[in-house]
Amino acid sequence: MNITDIRNDFPILKDNPGYIYFDNAATSQRPVQVLDSVEKFYRTTNANPLRGLYEWSIGATDAYENARQKVVSFVNADSEEEIVFVRNATEALNLVAYSWGMDNLKEGDEILITVMEHHSDILPWQMVSRKTGAKLKFIEPENDGTITEENLKSCVNENTKLIGMAAVSNVLGVKNPVKLAAELVHANGGVMVVDGAQSAPHMKTDVKAIGADFFAFSGHKMLGPMGIGVLYGKRSLFEKMSPFLSGGEMIEYVKRDSATFAELPHKFEAGTVNASGAVGLAAAIDYLENIGFDEIEAQENRVTKIVYEGLKNIPYVHVYGNSDFSKHSGIVTFNIDGCHPHDIATVLDDEHIAVRAGHHCAQPLMEFMQERLDMEFRATARASMYFYNTEEEAERFVEAVKKVRGWLGF
Ligand SMILES: Cc1ncc(COP(=O)(O)O)c(C=O)c1O
Repeated sequence: MNITDIRNDFPILKDNPGYIYFDNAATSQRPVQVLDSVEKFYRTTNANPLRGLYEWSIGATDAYENARQKVVSFVNADSEEEIVFVRNATEALNLVAYSWGMDNLKEGDEILITVMEHHSDILPWQMVSRKTGAKLKFIEPENDGTITEENLKSCVNENTKLIGMAAVSNVLGVKNPVKLAAELVHANGGVMVVDGAQSAPHMKTDVKAIGADFFAFSGHKMLGPMGIGVLYGKRSLFEKMSPFLSGGEMIEYVKRDSATFAELPHKFEAGTVNASGAVGLAAAIDYLENIGFDEIEAQENRVTKIVYEGLKNIPYVHVYGNSDFSKHSGIVTFNIDGCHPHDIATVLDDEHIAVRAGHHCAQPLMEFMQERLDMEFRATARASMYFYNTEEEAERFVEAVKKVRGWLGF
């Protein structure tokens, strides 16, 4: 992998030399291959897919369905019936909550999630819990974010009918034991919902190997356009589920007072679909697979090591998560004594460095960290790296962090 060639593929990086983009967990940048694929779609075959019987519409349908095939192999699904295009991971998780959770859970059942879930993997389960009476329970990790086998097993009982878990935490970067969780919940006849928003961009996805019944991710965090995401679901489950949204395209026959629904996966794709987004996502998958996830992870590790160890060596900086940098999956979350994370981000912005600051859409985790780790604020700063970031950027970043306190008058 030649990092210079790679960076040249990304117009925003090429046109802004010196700007350090370390907010990749929020959204990634896009290479020219993705941008071109979207433009080509609109320039050459734009029409409403799945509706018209003429050449352009058929072309749009083909482009959309070919993109679906690409996702089938990307996640190792069995067929295109198991891949539903949605707007993002949030919508994917809501689809599972409304279409599976509401119809299959009841009082006496338990939904188990971790305290480090993104709000997108908490609020849908709160809603299901309120409406069905199923109890919502939380797994609390060790202080370094690890969920041990013992802890996980102790949280599961015969009533656990759904486990929701991020494969990788968007705050701590830790990889969670989704495979073990799947085995435990399957023993109860329940389902495993994996939030893959932070894993799909960085590591090989294999829904069968991890035993996921549902796997959700967003295209925009993995070089794809905004507004396209994926829900993988086992066909046997999807077949029995009611549609989430209804209207055009997801029907078979409609009478005045009833309707029958389209075959999978279209039963879950109401209205005009985001064909250009799917095409862009397919180009993003091609780009990632062309580099290879081994290379992607290796480069992220090189950069993360410098950031992690550099920050760890600053006495007034607190770095959260596992003490092994390789367990940070490109994410390093930290605080500086006496400095609010928003101030840290603002000062770094002056240095043309983009990081995220705040609660990272994970307020229950912030509360947990504040209590357990005695954090000054219920918020942190987060540097999140991707394979196009360099060792030089990491070194410059560490030097900039060293200066933050001085800028803030300490
Ligand atoms: C772990 C995790 N899950 C879900 C989401 C939601 O993603 P989106 O906003 O694309 O729906 C995010 C976004 O940051 C995330 O990090």
